[in-house]
Formats: sequence, structure tokens, C-alpha cells
Amino acid sequence: MARYGNARLEGKFVLGPMAGYSDIAFRLLCRKHGAAMCFTEFANANALVRGGRESWELARTCAEEMPVGIQIFGSDEKVMADACRAIGERVSSGLLFASCIDINFGCPSGSVIRAGAGSALLRHPEKMASIVSACVSASPLPITCKIRAGWSSGKSAPGIARLLEKAGAAGITVHWRTATEGHRRSEGWGVILEVKRAVGIPVIGNGGASCPQKAVRLLSETSCDAVMISTGALGNVRIFETSQALLRGKTLPEPSWRQKLADFKEYLLLSEKFGVLGEKRLRAHAMEFLRGQAGAREARRRLGGAKTVEEIVGLMEEFAPQAI
Ligand SMILES: Cc1cc2nc3c(=O)[nH]c(=O)nc-3n(C[C@H](O)[C@H](O)[C@H](O)COP(=O)(O)O)c2cc1C
Repeated sequence: MARYGNARLEGKFVLGPMAGYSDIAFRLLCRKHGAAMCFTEFANANALVRGGRESWELARTCAEEMPVGIQIFGSDEKVMADACRAIGERVSSGLLFASCIDINFGCPSGSVIRAGAGSALLRHPEKMASIVSACVSASPLPITCKIRAGWSSGKSAPGIARLLEKAGAAGITVHWRTATEGHRRSEGWGVILEVKRAVGIPVIGNGGASCPQKAVRLLSETSCDAVMISTGALGNVRIFETSQALLRGKTLPEPSWRQKLADFKEYLLLSEKFGVLGEKRLRAHAMEFLRGQAGAREARRRLGGAKTVEEIVGLMEEFAPQAI
């Protein structure tokens, strides 16, 4: 059984962190459907250290969802270490639950890069190592890292992974695309195998595992310890169990609309239960559940204009996929 931080993974497919989507309700739903581990949306280390309520809300986890990794981002060693210490204190006092603290070295968004964080750090491997080393010293929890193949060339990840391992990282997740290439390449996950060969710590492969077939191929062709599925789980939380079944040689049918609607409603209930229900998030998830359904164009258009939770739920209940 693979380990990742303090987690023992009872499966090969984990849910990746997704800002705006991978909240506590969605993570619990993915765990129910076979995700071996989940990650929180990234939280700004600066804001955590300042006690920012919204950022602590993003980092909120519960016992039932374990194993879970809490992801943070930032560019300053001291701030990152302080954030790890603060998370560690809350975990020790039973307020939060986590198997590791995961450092984001992969986000390519403009605001994060301008702050010198996320994938901007891929251009400064020594700085990445000093952040990891400071976090490892401050944190009672293992530190893991999420990186990309490189900044603009796919060659740097194995060397970076080796440096991070030396700095004390307990695991590496590698997205095989570079920070600058967007989604231009559709396949090229050989770099994950190179990272796996370069280090002795567990490696999770990420990128493009959009269906069970691709998830299983990524796992077998890269020898990674587990596969991280992010966008492939949006609107399809059953992808973890269908991928795990396929790994055992069993092809499960695609979830029906009835099953998807039931999953959406369970997400709604969990969101209410854990206090994360909001129109914006619910609409974003609803859009994803409708994606690919025959005749969903009009429903998605109306969803775009829906203002309340009731309207969103009503549209989902009304929708019936066209027979093809
Ligand atoms: C809407 C959205 C939000 C994301 N937020 C995060 C994040 O907070 N932290 C992170 O490390 N990656 C984040 N990612 C990247 C994904 O976790 C993942 O690395 C990427 O989508 C590739 O995996 P996939 O092909 O399985 O989707 C985000 C991706 C999307 C689409």
C-alpha cells in the first residue's frame, strides 16, 4: 500500500486540489466514491498567518474525510514555515485533520506568479528547497510538494524533485505539463517516470487523467505510486471507483443521469451540512454535472443566469437528457 505523508492509500486514485471546487463537501463525496486521498484548495500562507478567516475556511478539514492533504502557497520561507506551524497547532489540538501539508509549486495563474509563488518558483529550485526545508523544520506534519514538469522546458522536474527530497519532502506530485504550455500538448507523461526514477519518496502522477482508461494508463506507463485526478472528477465523482475497477480488469458503465443527479444532490446536502453552500460554487458544480449530457446546452445557458440555490436545484431536477 502506497503512503503519502502520513496517509496510507487504499487505492491508486486521488482527488487533486481545485480552487473553487474541491471544498469539504466535494472531497467527502469523492472519498465516498473511492478517492484514496483528497487535497484542499490552495490557501495563501500569508493570509493564514494573518488569521484570514476565508483562507482558514479553505483549509478546514474533518475527521471523516481523512486522509487529506492541506495545500498552501507562498514565496517566503518564514511565512510558509509559520503557516505550517499554525496548521500543525490546529491539527494537534483536534481542530483540523491532515495527513500532510502540501506546497503548491505548480499554479500558473498570473496573480500567484506575480507574487513569486506557485509555478514561478520552478525557475528557482534552490528557493523551493529552502522553503521546503523551513516548512519541514516548523511542521509536525510531513511536507509534500506539487510541481510541474518545469517552467517552460519539461527537463527540470527530476532535478527539482531530487532537491526537494533532500530538503525533506515526503512526497512529490508532478503534473507533466510545464507552467507555460497550458493545455497545448495532449500527452507526454514520460517526465513522471523520470521523476519516479530520480527519487525514493512516493510520486503521484498528474495531468490528463480525464477518464478511467487514461487514469489507468498514466499509472501503468509511469510507474507512479498513485494518480491524481482533478478536472476528471468534476461532475463525475465516480471516476475513482470506475478507475479502480478498471485497474482490476472490470469495466463499469458510465454513471447515468439519475446517478449524477443523486451525486449533485448529495453534494448539496453535504455543502449545507458543512456550511460551504453558496450559489457560485453550486452553479459551478452543476455546470460540470451537466457537461456532456445530450441536450444540456439550454439547461447550462439557463443555469448561467440562475441566481439562487433553489433556481439551480430546480433546473437540475427539471433536466432530462435527450435520448440519442
Ligand atoms: C479550476 C481549477 C482550480 C485548480 N486549483 C488548484 C489548486 O488550488 N492547487 C493546485 O495545486 N492545483 C490546482 N489546479 C490544478 C489541478 O489540481 C491539476 O493539477 C490540473 O487540473 C491537471 O490535472 P487534471 O488533468 O486531472 O485536471 C486547479 C485546476 C483547475 C482546473
